[in-house]
Amino acid sequence: MRLVVVSNRVSAPDREGKIGVGGLAVALRAALRERGGIWFGWSGRVAAAPAEHPQIVQRGKVGYAVVDIAPIDRDEYYLGFANRALWPNMHYRLGLTQFSRAEFSGYMRVNRRFALALAAIIQPDDLVWVHDYHLIPFAAELRRLGITNRIGYFHHIPWPPIDVFGALPGSDDLLAALKAYDLVGVQTERDAGNLARSFAETPGGTPDAAPRIIALPIGIDTAAFRIAAQRAESNSVVARTMSELGARRLVIGVDRLDYSKGIVERLESFERFMISNPDRRGNVMLLQISPPSRSEVLEYEQLGRQTDETLGRINSTLGDPSWMPIRFVKRAYTHAVLAGLFRNAAVGLVTPMRDGMNLVAKEYVAAQRPDDPGVLVLSRFAGAAAQMREALIVNPFDKFEVAEAISTALLMPKDERIARWRVLFDGLCRQDIGWWTQSFVDALTGSANAAAPPF
Ligand code: G6P
Repeated sequence: MRLVVVSNRVSAPDREGKIGVGGLAVALRAALRERGGIWFGWSGRVAAAPAEHPQIVQRGKVGYAVVDIAPIDRDEYYLGFANRALWPNMHYRLGLTQFSRAEFSGYMRVNRRFALALAAIIQPDDLVWVHDYHLIPFAAELRRLGITNRIGYFHHIPWPPIDVFGALPGSDDLLAALKAYDLVGVQTERDAGNLARSFAETPGGTPDAAPRIIALPIGIDTAAFRIAAQRAESNSVVARTMSELGARRLVIGVDRLDYSKGIVERLESFERFMISNPDRRGNVMLLQISPPSRSEVLEYEQLGRQTDETLGRINSTLGDPSWMPIRFVKRAYTHAVLAGLFRNAAVGLVTPMRDGMNLVAKEYVAAQRPDDPGVLVLSRFAGAAAQMREALIVNPFDKFEVAEAISTALLMPKDERIARWRVLFDGLCRQDIGWWTQSFVDALTGSANAAAPPF
């Protein structure tokens, strides 16, 4: 049975995955690499008169089928409803959510157009697996075209409680559209509960109106990432960074420049750590790698400015001529470089205000040296916190708590670091990207091997 993966963002076949582009594309690339199939989605290009049919490029076992979109589609569907309304709403940020009817109909229109384009190349026993919030109505549109294949959906970002989700105009239509899927996957039990209750509590809804929902936390290619980290010892960017760092200890953060990631709050928590631990000044450095993302959306542009201001203030007040507390880099790096930097960092700081899963937390752990691992400081509001309980779990809204966790991590005895890391790493080996893909596909095809609940 051929697997057809559908996502808005398709990772270009000729480029090495850069972690900065977001976990979804990197994870789907890994999921498809072994099993093969078709990967359908937006080409990332905007064209005045986009072609109706996808261009298909075969690379190894994967056929990439991509379509361009028109400028108005990009504004209304991608920048508009998906990223100005759904994204903030689903990250519990009602105050940032902006709804426009024109953008909502643009979102529906692009889903219809994508469905038409895929319908032209779909075969009767293809298994269709749709990913993320850009494409919630995709199956309903396929069904309207008479497609009866099995279709599953995986929601990579949080599903908020109905009190939050229900405030979004169009939310009832989206819930209705979800029913066209044979299976809906979410990252955590909390998301699954929120989604199930949304169906029960929506006007006129009942619990049995919901589609089948499973909580299935996405994993990483643990073995491959571990090998990449071992090989990265000789990577020149990693080697230069480490030789410049000298005896100083490295704290690392890697996230797209997105308000959900809590980057400004993280810089301020690190500032708090420096103020409370003056003896540490000069011998610890935070390296924050944050490639810009969705910069045409006002909130992202504002975040860029706010980050620069906070960084400038902290470095100029706490730094001295021979040392800057924070090094901030706004570009994406390859997995090879990141794996090497993670391996050499004493602390991985992953403190989103809200996050579906957060694969950086998993990659940081996979990259560590078994005999001398670093410590993961992880937000309780990342989906990963439900699985990675041996991390130091923090509330990112509390800068003092995060500052204390950084201090605890830097002082943690080796035995305890090893013990915590072992449990975390074993979990990542058991529930890796292969396990995740197979479990979803089994559940969608109704195979008897369908995975047991992960928790
Ligand atoms: C998150 C989303 C993905 C998205 C990625 C990058 O991980 O869950 O769907 O692809 O961010 O964002 P972008 O807007 O650049 O695709």
